[in-house]
Amino acid sequence: MIRGVVLAGGSGSRLAPLTRTVNKHLLPVGRQPMIYYPVQALVSAGVTDILVVTGVEHIGDIVSQLRSGEEHGCRFTYRVQERPLGIADALSLAEDFARGEPVVVVLGDNIFDAPLAPHLAAFTASGAAAQVHLHRVAAPQRFGCARFEGRRLVEIIEKPTDPPSDLAVTGIYIFDAQVYGFITALTPSQRGELEISDINNRYLAQGGLRHAELTGYWTDAGTHASLQRANRLVAE
Ligand code: TTP
Repeated sequence: MIRGVVLAGGSGSRLAPLTRTVNKHLLPVGRQPMIYYPVQALVSAGVTDILVVTGVEHIGDIVSQLRSGEEHGCRFTYRVQERPLGIADALSLAEDFARGEPVVVVLGDNIFDAPLAPHLAAFTASGAAAQVHLHRVAAPQRFGCARFEGRRLVEIIEKPTDPPSDLAVTGIYIFDAQVYGFITALTPSQRGELEISDINNRYLAQGGLRHAELTGYWTDAGTHASLQRANRLVAE
C-alpha cells in the first residue's frame, strides 16, 4: 500500500495569537485536534504507514498527541523540519521514508470528507507520475489555482490576483519518487519558501500530472475564518 505523509510544520502565523505556544495542527476542530482529520482520511483509505513532519518547537507536543499511531490504526514515523521553508521543503524529508515509491501527502490543516481510496486507486491505474486534487472555492486567489485550456490542466498559478478558474489545488497530493530531485532543483520563491506549486508545474511540464476533483466539503483551517468554517463543517 502507498505510504502517507502529513505535513505539520510551518509557522501558523495567520492564526496568531492561538499559535504562539500551540502548534496549529493541535488546535481543536470539533472534538479533535486538527491533525486527526488528515490522519483519519489516510487511515480510512488503507494508508497506515504515515510520516509526520513538523518543526523543532512542537515536535514534542505532536508526538505526545499522536503517539505511536496504535489508537488510530496506523504507524507513525516522525521527522523534524529545521526551519519553516515551505511545503516542498517539508516534503523533502520524506525521501528515505518513501523508499523510491510514490507517497500520498496531506497538509495537516486540510479538513475534508471525500474518501481518498478511489483517488489512490485511480492514480495507480493511470500510470501518472503525480496527482493533484482540486476543489471549487469562493476565493481561489488564496490558493494555487488551476488554469485549463479546454479540459486540459495547463498551469497552476500560486495565489493569482486574477484567478483563471475557481478550482483550487488542495493540500492533498500524490508524488512519485522524482519529486525529491525536483525539490533539490527548486529555488525559494519571493516569500522565501520552496513552493509546492512549482513542483506541480514541473510535473505538468513533463506531462506526468493527473488531476481529480474532490467531492464533498474541503477547507484549510489556517486562518481564523477558515478554522471557524472547519469547525462548522465537521459539526454538521
Ligand atoms: P501554510 O498555511 O501555507 O503556512 P503556515 O502553516 O506556516 O501558516 P502561515 O502562513 O499562517 O504562517 O502551510 C500549509 C501547511 O503546510 C501547514 O499546515 C503545514 C505545512 N507546512 C510545513 O509542513 N512546513 C512549512 O514550512 C510550511 C510553510 C507549511
